[in-house]
Amino acid sequence: MSGYFTEENSADAVNERMGDEVSPRLAEIMESLVRHLHAFAKDVNLTQAEWEAAIGFLTETGRMCSDERQEFILLSDVLGFSMLVDAINNRRPAGATENTVFGPFHVAGAPERQMGDTVSEDGKGETCLFEGRVLDLDGNPIEGARIDVWCDNADGFYSVQQPEEQPKWNNRGIFTTGPDGHYSFRGIKPVSYPIPDDGPVGKMLAALGRHPFRPAHMHFLITAPGFDTVVTHTFVDGDPYLTSDAVFGVKQSLITDFKPGDGDTQWRCDFDFVMVEKC
Ligand code: BEZ
Ligand code: FE
Repeated sequence: MSGYFTEENSADAVNERMGDEVSPRLAEIMESLVRHLHAFAKDVNLTQAEWEAAIGFLTETGRMCSDERQEFILLSDVLGFSMLVDAINNRRPAGATENTVFGPFHVAGAPERQMGDTVSEDGKGETCLFEGRVLDLDGNPIEGARIDVWCDNADGFYSVQQPEEQPKWNNRGIFTTGPDGHYSFRGIKPVSYPIPDDGPVGKMLAALGRHPFRPAHMHFLITAPGFDTVVTHTFVDGDPYLTSDAVFGVKQSLITDFKPGDGDTQWRCDFDFVMVEKC
């Protein structure tokens, strides 16, 4: 190749500039990224105005980011990219609990609570008992599994979204399993809610004729010594957004029948988590 840039050789012209001392993994990623990016522009015959709109969109996305808000991750989420990366990195054998999107609303350092305690601190919502076991692939209980849970309140907001209105640790807590691997805690039946849609990602969803809602779910981050971490949800069966989750997080195996409770709580959610031993 002459080294001069043409429409035809555009990706090669860029990739051939790569130095000899570049780390092989960086070279592999950048070479592929440039190839796909150039193929995309050619595929859609990208106009100058569209290129400028894209730069404007990314600039606005960057401006929306702060310590409290990560608009680029939200963009990745609604493009299904977060779930794809999650799937690539969490291939598990049949029977293991599937992963799903982590989301922006986890807060590290939630209170360690006793089994049976409630995580609901605002007294709102329909009460629910969450119960089950943490097991290995052979069905043996896992002792010492830390179950970090969080969900929205009855109005569809996480406590971090309403620091003035909700107690900091509302609908959050950490539970540690004993020798029988059993867990149980009280909380509320989660409700569906819109992801933050007052920024560029929300505008993009609207332009694409997409709604911003996530089906109701309880988040779980489960860690246990010697086992791969599980980041997952239990979804409320029957939710109208199960088949159109704004961030593509739903997996059939995570849809859970929230059954009427026994009087102590209005609902109950029974779910066993199955973890895979680290290789
Ligand atoms: C969540 O489930 O909390 C969430 C996930 C992705 C984007 C926004 C919210
Ligand atoms: Fe959520």
